[in-house]
Order: sequence, then structure tokens, then C-alpha cells
Amino acid sequence: MSFLTSTTHLHITTWVLALVLFFIAALASKPNKGVHMALRVMYILIIISGGALFMEWRSNIAESGMYYDMKVLFGILVIGFMEMILVRKKKGKPTTMFWALFAIVLAVTLYLGLSTGIGMNF
Ligand code: HEM
Repeated sequence: MSFLTSTTHLHITTWVLALVLFFIAALASKPNKGVHMALRVMYILIIISGGALFMEWRSNIAESGMYYDMKVLFGILVIGFMEMILVRKKKGKPTTMFWALFAIVLAVTLYLGLSTGIGMNF
């Protein structure tokens, strides 16, 4: 299964597509079932590609400490807030608080992903 873990490109592709679908769904004036369904498929692909990276690299890079664990936790939170925003929007409930939390966890996830050992490193 090295195609999942030899580079981070697949993982990056999945979450970039998810963000695009999320913004299309979130900024549209009415709920779009198809886009939301496609986004949910992307969630699964993000978790598979991220989970594979996690299992492959966590134990290999001992000095990373809890970075990888935190990366996974925040990655899952990003998915959680995307879903919360879309479901609350559909029900006509306020989403402002969730947008703020989404922005924060997304920033933390990008920081953790880009500062840990593998893939691109700034
Ligand atoms: C929408 C949510 C997510 C975003 C925006 C995101 C973003 C990123 C970014 C920017 C990287 C660095 C890629 C690189 O360095 O080339 C990365 C790597 C990684 N992601 Fe995610 N991710 C998300 C969800 C997840 C999930 C759900 C998991 C686990 C199930 C996960 C596990 C990982 C792992 C283990 C790495 C390797 C860390 C490293 O680069 O050293 N990610 N992710």
C-alpha cells in the first residue's frame, strides 16, 4: 500500500477537494444534496489517506512526540466542523460560532501537518 504513504500527495488532494466542495456547499444559497454527498465521500478518503500516513510514520519518527496524534485529532475536528456547519445551515440554525471554530482548527491542522516530519516542510 505504498501509494498511500510514500508521499503525502494523495492526502493533500483529498482534503483540498473536500475544502472546495465544502465552500461550494456552505456558500450556496440553498442546500445542495449532491455536493454534500460528494463531500462525505471525501471525508472517508481523507481519513483513509491520513490514517495510512499515521500508521506508517508515527512510530518511525520517534522524536515527533505527540505531533502526529494531535494532527489526527485536529484533522478529524476539521471534518466535524464542516459537517456541523452544513447540517446547521440546512436546519436554518446559526453557524457563526462554528465558522470561527472551523477556521481555528483548520489553521492548527495545516500548521501541524506542514510542520511534522514528512511531506512538505516549511
Ligand atoms: C480536512 C482535514 C485535514 C487537513 C486540512 C489536513 C492537512 C494536512 C496537511 C497540510 C498535511 C501535510 C502534508 C505534507 O506535509 O506534505 C497533512 C499530513 C498528514 N495528515 Fe492530514 N489533514 C486533514 C485530515 C487528516 C485526518 C482526518 C487524518 C487522520 C486520520 C490526518 C492525518 C495526517 C497525517 C498522519 C499526516 C502526515 C504528517 C506529516 O506531514 O508529517 N489528516 N495533513
